[in-house]
Amino acid sequence: MNERAREQWGSRLGFTLAAVGSAVGLGNIWRFSYASGENGGAVFLLLYLLAVLVMGLPIMIAEFTIGRRAQSDVIGAFHKLAPGRPWVLGGYLGLLAAFVILSYYAVIAGWIAKYLVGYLSGELMMVPAGEYGSHFTQFTAERLEPLGWSFLFMALTTGIVAFGVKRGIEQANKILMPLLALLLVGMAAFSLSLPGAAAGVRFLFRPDWSVLARAEVYLAAVGQAFFSLSLGMGALLTYSSYLPDNVKLPREAVKVAFFDTLLALVAGLAIFPAVFSFGVDPAAGATLVFIVLPGIFEAMPAGMALGLAFFALLSAAALSSAVSLLEVVVAYAMRRWRWTRLQSGLIFGFVIFLLGIPSSLGYGLLAELQLFGRDILSGLDLLASQIVLPVGGLIFALFIGWGWQRNVALQASDFGRGWLGRAWLLMLRYLTPLMLTLVLLHALRAL
Ligand code: TRP
Repeated sequence: MNERAREQWGSRLGFTLAAVGSAVGLGNIWRFSYASGENGGAVFLLLYLLAVLVMGLPIMIAEFTIGRRAQSDVIGAFHKLAPGRPWVLGGYLGLLAAFVILSYYAVIAGWIAKYLVGYLSGELMMVPAGEYGSHFTQFTAERLEPLGWSFLFMALTTGIVAFGVKRGIEQANKILMPLLALLLVGMAAFSLSLPGAAAGVRFLFRPDWSVLARAEVYLAAVGQAFFSLSLGMGALLTYSSYLPDNVKLPREAVKVAFFDTLLALVAGLAIFPAVFSFGVDPAAGATLVFIVLPGIFEAMPAGMALGLAFFALLSAAALSSAVSLLEVVVAYAMRRWRWTRLQSGLIFGFVIFLLGIPSSLGYGLLAELQLFGRDILSGLDLLASQIVLPVGGLIFALFIGWGWQRNVALQASDFGRGWLGRAWLLMLRYLTPLMLTLVLLHALRAL
């Protein structure tokens, strides 16, 4: 086959930033804060860290290894590395997950865009205190407006992807990531200086072990690890397929996992001290960011600027993650049908926007419809993060552990002959699949 020259990252830093940009997203701020709030804070954090170490990191190195060796998208990679074998099912599952996740991710990102503009115009500061809840419910219950914002967000995402790996994705992340880190650290410093902030820090760091008796906490931690690290559907696999041979993969994976976790912690330090300082329930759930925080901003001296900064930060985080989700689909379409980047981006960006419509209407017109006992968006999020991504991760782990030759895996991953590489393979063979299977069996029972 006569292939177009494959695009490459402009620099190693560019790749690192893009991979961190993929990982750091609504998962770290919106999702991490409500998941840890609902699941007891510190204990959830510990389980999450454990999941990052025994599942996240080994699987991330697996994705990096597969992607770079194959120099292809999530489906092409398996066709190339294991032709005619069933591993490619993992690729199809990944592609499916990209459609599902991005479809609802864009809906939430649309709300964020709306709030960003609401702080720009000052409109959100006019909402009477205590009415942010009904403000949010009314907005999300509308038919057209939320979809308009989600459309705008998908258009931006498509625009970045259409410019290509180096000039689009890499450039965007070089701007968005430093901006995000700066805003987040600033907000955490401010939040920590509020009276009563210490209770929020205690909530995040002082474990209440009784939470361990609740089975859903383990599942939530694993789901959060997969979602937050962008694992299990080939986003990082696709990004690493644009890497040359001289970048050391294990080190890159450690960096990505480290920064992703650090940013979730800083986000927690930006949110929980403020939540406790204002006497709000940390288990407020998925609406924490849209209802609780605006109420807090309103009561603060520089509330409008803070609200603006916060939603700008969320937008930056969401955009860089959405780009990585769309790239999975675009990379596939470009190879499979030989479409151009722009064509693939426009077509699938639009298809994904359409797929998000039910998730958006789930708060209004389709509120009666339930998925696993939740609204459509939350049901899809549950399905994706606690089932589809772990299954995808399981397939990637098993492929490296059992489907590939040991030596090839050790060489392709850059581990070489040392004990670290052996430990990695042992984890992918036994520990990671075992734990994933336990979690999955449990998730299926809970559905
Ligand atoms: N990790 C991102 C976040 O935390 C979301 C994301 C981007 C993602 N790409 C992904 C999640 C791939 C799962 C798989 O918001």
